[in-house]
Amino acid sequence: MTKRLYIETVGCQMNVLDSEMVVASLRRRGFELSRDLDSADVLLFNTCSVREQAENKTYSALGRLRSFKQKNPDKIIGVMGCMAQKDQKLVFDRAPFVDLVVGPGQLAKIPDLLEEIAAGKGKQLAVGLGRTAGSADEIRRSHETFDPLRDPSMRPTPFQAYLRIQIGCDKFCTYCVVPNTRGPEQGRPPEQIIEEARLLADQGCKEIILLGQTVNSYKYRDPSGKTTRLSDLLAQLHEIAGLKRLKFVTNYPKDMTDDLLQAVRDLPKCSPYLHVPAQSGSNTMLKRMKRGYTIEEYREMFGRIKATLPDAAVTSDFIVGFCGETDEDFQLTYDLVAECRFKNSFIFKYSERPGTKAADLMPDDVPHDVKQWRNNELLELQNRISEEENQRLLGQRVEVLVEGPSEHAKKEHGEALLEQSNPVQLVGRTPCDRIVVFDGNPRLTGEIVPLAIYEIAPHTLFGAVVTGYVGPASLSVLGA
Ligand code: 5AD
Ligand code: SF4
Repeated sequence: MTKRLYIETVGCQMNVLDSEMVVASLRRRGFELSRDLDSADVLLFNTCSVREQAENKTYSALGRLRSFKQKNPDKIIGVMGCMAQKDQKLVFDRAPFVDLVVGPGQLAKIPDLLEEIAAGKGKQLAVGLGRTAGSADEIRRSHETFDPLRDPSMRPTPFQAYLRIQIGCDKFCTYCVVPNTRGPEQGRPPEQIIEEARLLADQGCKEIILLGQTVNSYKYRDPSGKTTRLSDLLAQLHEIAGLKRLKFVTNYPKDMTDDLLQAVRDLPKCSPYLHVPAQSGSNTMLKRMKRGYTIEEYREMFGRIKATLPDAAVTSDFIVGFCGETDEDFQLTYDLVAECRFKNSFIFKYSERPGTKAADLMPDDVPHDVKQWRNNELLELQNRISEEENQRLLGQRVEVLVEGPSEHAKKEHGEALLEQSNPVQLVGRTPCDRIVVFDGNPRLTGEIVPLAIYEIAPHTLFGAVVTGYVGPASLSVLGA
């Protein structure tokens, strides 16, 4: 009998990819996806621990399942991902009706563990070792990358895919749980990555986004001693026919080496889009965060990006209200954003995380309303900059990868959308991750299309298909 799986995912791209992999592995065991809880046999929650708020939301969502489980004792409820690794048995204490807890390094076990639970063997827990709970090798092996065969129907868009090149993190920034939850940094062998990329390209994938916590630190030494860096990997991936765009996230400022910047410059499929979180503009904070660079070094790196890739879109993350952050420290962050004019920044209020160095050694002493005020100020500045930078694209030509009809078009046309011969509202993404809305034939979905930008809104560009573009050979009606 077919079983039904309901899965909810929060957190970063790594979690999105983990969920895709778990779904693919369960489909191979006869599961089908369910959109609602009621018709599902197995309910999985893929969780995030980076900030307390994400955990609180998950525990509230789980709390709402208490009576659901009482009424449906045969349904299996599972918690996977970073919160599962961080809280381990505590998840069973806080939500006693949960049947399964699986850390991000143990995902391959999920299909078997579900069978054991269904066979009446009771609650199951599978987590990786702590960072000091064994030999380096034992710890590494307990945090395994999980990259089974891909299933294109599982991706939000079959022509875009995440591809994991690295798991874990060894940087140990003092505020961050990731080195604990995702274990030691480990690069995947390049042959495996290339093989997976070829498979994705054969499945019609046009854009690949390489994932790693510090993706540009990627290095793989094979037994003969040959080292492959990210720049080498990009050069090999570039050769794969069918792939049109390559991106990689997230970068660590100290590892933004010239060979990588030159690879992005010289390989046309590489998008000049670089997410390089600065976290703060103050040296005092950077030191307390143990980020491993000074703000002068960040500036030097930023200058090298702009010198090698003048049109690159650089984006950043910032934490405001970290331990002991003064008005002067915050002002330095504000000045850095004003100076670098990032294309976009993700701004977070510091959230103390148990098990981190900051939680153990430094008081979380910036009041919440001060964090909120700094968050608002920085966000307002960044939004202004993003909009001004977008203005520069007015009248310019961009190439977008068409992601498909907009939500508006889906509502308007429903099921009949693909039969439309008239243009509908479509959404595409530029190489630098800007969203463009334009009118075109829905069959342009998955194609790379040139657009002229005629209007700018704060978070969206509006474009029109460039006159003279005749579309891919298979497309007879352009519709724009
Ligand atoms: N509190 C707030 N933000 C955090 N981040 C990581 N840990 C914390 C924390 N404890 C932010 C960093 C990182 C992004 C993914 O999340 O800015 O780059
Ligand atoms: Fe966390 Fe720092 Fe590693 Fe990024 S580099 S995952 S912020 S420890």
